[in-house]
Amino acid sequence: MTLQGHICRLRSVESSDIDTILLWENDPAVAPFSAPHPPYARAEIEQFVSNQQQGFVANGQLRLMIEAEGRTIGAIDLFDYDGTTAEVGILIYGKEDRRRGYATDALHTLQRHARNLQVERLKAVVADDNAASRALFRRCGFVETDNFYYFCTMKRIVAPSILSADFGNLERDIRMLNESRAEWIHVDVMDGVFVPNISFGFPVLKPVRKATSKVIDTHLMICDPIRYVKRFAEAGSDYVTFHYEAAEDVGACIDAIREAGAKVGISIKPATNPEVLREWLPRLDMVLVMSVEPGFGGQSFMPESLDKVRTLRRMIQECEGDCLIEIDGGISAKNAREVFDAGVEVVVAGSSVFGAENPKEAIIKILEA
Ligand code: DX5
Ligand code: ZN
Repeated sequence: MTLQGHICRLRSVESSDIDTILLWENDPAVAPFSAPHPPYARAEIEQFVSNQQQGFVANGQLRLMIEAEGRTIGAIDLFDYDGTTAEVGILIYGKEDRRRGYATDALHTLQRHARNLQVERLKAVVADDNAASRALFRRCGFVETDNFYYFCTMKRIVAPSILSADFGNLERDIRMLNESRAEWIHVDVMDGVFVPNISFGFPVLKPVRKATSKVIDTHLMICDPIRYVKRFAEAGSDYVTFHYEAAEDVGACIDAIREAGAKVGISIKPATNPEVLREWLPRLDMVLVMSVEPGFGGQSFMPESLDKVRTLRRMIQECEGDCLIEIDGGISAKNAREVFDAGVEVVVAGSSVFGAENPKEAIIKILEA
């Protein structure tokens, strides 16, 4: 029923190629369908349209009628919303309309609005022999999983990395982030041994914590992380992420971070196979995939990292974990969409935010890519 409450706020949704997707807030008592709904029939839809009813909600199910070129060409349903995930079904009449890309457009529109309404995840169960639908969901960033066919995450978080901030004006830059749509602040700690660069440590983290109530996401690029994870958690990190390659005892690091009251992340470098994380996933809050060699801001994004993200997304589904995927290195508004589509929820962005003329605008562009 929550779905009903949330989605009913939408009245009319504009999209580039589709004229409108409309829904109405019908009285559930008189709504003609209940979930699970009977098969779609064109006559039904035509009848709704002639009654000037363009969509309806019944029994926790949302149906959107898709109109293009002045006629109703199909419908999209959202149902079985459990507070996080909603199932999505789509129907487009006629092969011709399919070819025009209406289905893709309608699904993208729905995804955008699901995001605005804070529906975190969408899933779609598609029959094996329905190649057209499988291709459609794949095009719209749904990832194939084992337990239900396709899965797509709607959560988008930008974590600007203060490695690229102006350290002479750090307070000003944090204030800017406080006013921005970035939900997290990414703090890169480098020891000059695990990576060939030295950044900063506790003396910087503490004033950042004082200056912001945003989520502080600390990325430790240091050897022997067990020696410091607790102190980073106590210095105000909400998430403490250490490198798999740097930890002798992964389980001990996880325990130490959790005992200190922070959320736990593990990061892997570009050459590390995500399979090494399988056994740890159920105990993690986040996996951080490096899309550059750690050490420096401003490097180019490695597109191979997208396959790792897809693999991890499948692995998280398989173990029924509830673990975010973050990506770090070379992200800007130009590649943010494919990154989110691969199943990433949190993107780190250093130079593309702080190097922009208008950093707040750059954050919005990433979020809305
Ligand atoms: C690299 C750091 C990144 C870096 C990202 O080792 O972990 O967080 O600051 O910077 P950009 O977005 O410029 O690649
Ligand atoms: Zn980082």
